[in-house]
Amino acid sequence: MSTYFITGATGTIGKEVVNSLLSKNEHVIAGTRDPQKLQDFYKDSVTGTYFDYGAKESYQEVLNTDGIFLLGPPLNPGLYELLEPFVDYLQDNYKGRLIYLSGNGMENLEELPFHKKMEEKLKNSSLNWNIVRPGFFMQNFGNYDRENIQDRNIIFSPAGEGKSSFVSSKDVGSAIAELLIDPNRVKETHVLTGTKAYTHFDVAAMLSDILRREITYPNPDENTYKQVLKESGAPDFIADYMIPVYGMIKQGKVDNVTTAIKDLTGKEPESLEEVLKRDFQ
Ligand SMILES: NC(=O)c1ccc[n+]([C@@H]2O[C@H](COP(=O)([O-])OP(=O)(O)OC[C@H]3O[C@@H](n4cnc5c(N)ncnc54)[C@H](OP(=O)(O)O)[C@@H]3O)[C@@H](O)[C@H]2O)c1
Repeated sequence: MSTYFITGATGTIGKEVVNSLLSKNEHVIAGTRDPQKLQDFYKDSVTGTYFDYGAKESYQEVLNTDGIFLLGPPLNPGLYELLEPFVDYLQDNYKGRLIYLSGNGMENLEELPFHKKMEEKLKNSSLNWNIVRPGFFMQNFGNYDRENIQDRNIIFSPAGEGKSSFVSSKDVGSAIAELLIDPNRVKETHVLTGTKAYTHFDVAAMLSDILRREITYPNPDENTYKQVLKESGAPDFIADYMIPVYGMIKQGKVDNVTTAIKDLTGKEPESLEEVLKRDFQ
């Protein structure tokens, strides 16, 4: 049995990495700013430890592990600066493998360069890195759009008419676990997607079938999106962050489909319909 240190273990992807490692009988140390949350998630099946990128005294638990999963929290344009001290610490002290969660297309997104900068830092380091670049998570609709879908019968993102090769967080977690446990895989970059790209009109049609009522995609322009978020009380930085992110879909930059999930896990990726049914039925 090997031991892996998982950051973001209370979140969408980290949770799937942990579950996948536990199903392989591996030992997991899960880092969190709130150990009580871990108890609620995993009972006693993982070793929980206090961990905060902003608190250097919380880094030591990682050292005697075979691999680390490194995830930065979403909606933080300062993500590179948040993670940098931890990566510097690892560079000086760590011999295991490291898997970094980036994002499909983010390596070219000038407005939000944090994933690109972190990828470059890792590639120039002496660490045993692997990088995964997942597409948009299928679970975003359940996690972030649920209120719009359930209460207003819309999905509301400035994604235009472009297609996106959505991926299931479960498959991303399984692929990361495979990379963590395989000592022969280092210095690889994998773009993780589902098997097909969809527009937001396609997603609205799929949700309409699942929910048996009409869900529409009004295809808001950026100003309308910003205005609506403002009126709903969201701080401006959310629209400033999400507009370039959805712009990647609008501009056709994230419709690429890869076989990386099947190549790494040996299993076909989940379909968007399967995930939406699980999340909305
Ligand atoms: N959503 C998408 O479609 C998509 C697609 C591609 C890539 N991504 C990337 O995925 C990442 C987000 O992953 P996610 O959706 O799984 O996130 P999430 O569900 O929001 O979870 C975020 C995690 O970050 C941890 N965290 C927050 N602040 C921290 C800090 N200061 N120190 C240590 N841990 C901290 C939280 O742990 P505690 O609260 O327990 O401490 C939590 O477990 C982002 O980097 C994003 O760019 C997202």
